[in-house]
Amino acid sequence: MMPFDGRVALVYGGGNGIGQAIAYELARRGACVAVADLNQVAAERTAAEIAAFGGRAVGISCDVMSDASVAEAADRTADRLGDASIVVNNVGAIVSGNPQDIPIAEWERLIGLNLFSVIRSNAVFLPRLIAVGHGHIVNTASFAGLYPYAANRMPYVAAKAAVIALSESLALYLEPQGVRVSCLCPGPIATRVADSMKTWTPNLTFRGPGSQFTVKTAADVAKTLADGMVAGRIIIPSHDEVWEVMQAHAADPDGFIRTAIARFAGGDEGLPTVDPAMQAAFLAQQESPTP
Ligand SMILES: NC(=O)c1ccc[n+]([C@@H]2O[C@H](COP(=O)([O-])OP(=O)(O)OC[C@H]3O[C@@H](n4cnc5c(N)ncnc54)[C@H](O)[C@@H]3O)[C@@H](O)[C@H]2O)c1
Repeated sequence: MMPFDGRVALVYGGGNGIGQAIAYELARRGACVAVADLNQVAAERTAAEIAAFGGRAVGISCDVMSDASVAEAADRTADRLGDASIVVNNVGAIVSGNPQDIPIAEWERLIGLNLFSVIRSNAVFLPRLIAVGHGHIVNTASFAGLYPYAANRMPYVAAKAAVIALSESLALYLEPQGVRVSCLCPGPIATRVADSMKTWTPNLTFRGPGSQFTVKTAADVAKTLADGMVAGRIIIPSHDEVWEVMQAHAADPDGFIRTAIARFAGGDEGLPTVDPAMQAAFLAQQESPTP
């Protein structure tokens, strides 16, 4: 039996972008998928698209900023599809600005969306998954939490670094109890995440993870995630080249940071490479989304 066949997956933030691609990929591999999203229309559209290619899915309205809403999504999934044994905590958002310009309330909102969304989901699912002795939790982090480059979006960086640390420690705690943990670390992926980005300091340079990275599609990263889950991987980056960068950072953190400062000062903003064919396909897909 395929590892996803007949399993129930709940994808928080599954209505668009990477979460939507994960919902499609898990459904293609045989899972029944609950798509939970603040954007109910997007959640239901994603579920309908999965049903159109023969999968089983439901769309659920959910706000991951609310403890009650996160718990309710879990209960509605159980009522409509059965208990979720795969939980994907994928909601996240970026904010741009110098750290001193970002109000504390905005730091709290960003940490709420990127980190507390995972903590809220864990509060609901840890007791359930530990009780049955199996399951798989996936937390979406980012390259921005793996090594320093994103100087203009620190609430995001801090929250994603915390998601990585939390995921690693959760694996220590949960894997002996039969529950797997994976932390998806996307690099640059073509989605509409920047559309909702608030900017607190005008005209800031947006620095990227390195020009050696090519922008990938959400479908690429969803496939990498599903393959990684099957292989039992814990840290799952979207681009394998990132391991070299992480090794350089671990070998000499001060040197790594000073090299990055010098590179940025020299005008290399580390922006990823965009393949024009991929960009054209992304724009066409926005016009008429299909799974
Ligand atoms: N796109 C990238 O390049 C990239 C890179 C690294 C990490 N990530 C991470 O991947 C994840 C998905 O990002 P994306 O690019 O697909 O973004 P996206 O903006 O395309 O999708 C985010 C989804 O989350 C939903 N959402 C927002 N607030 C919510 C809330 N309060 N409750 C429930 N749902 C809510 C949105 O409606 C949307 O469907 C995020 O955690 C993001 O930080 C993205």
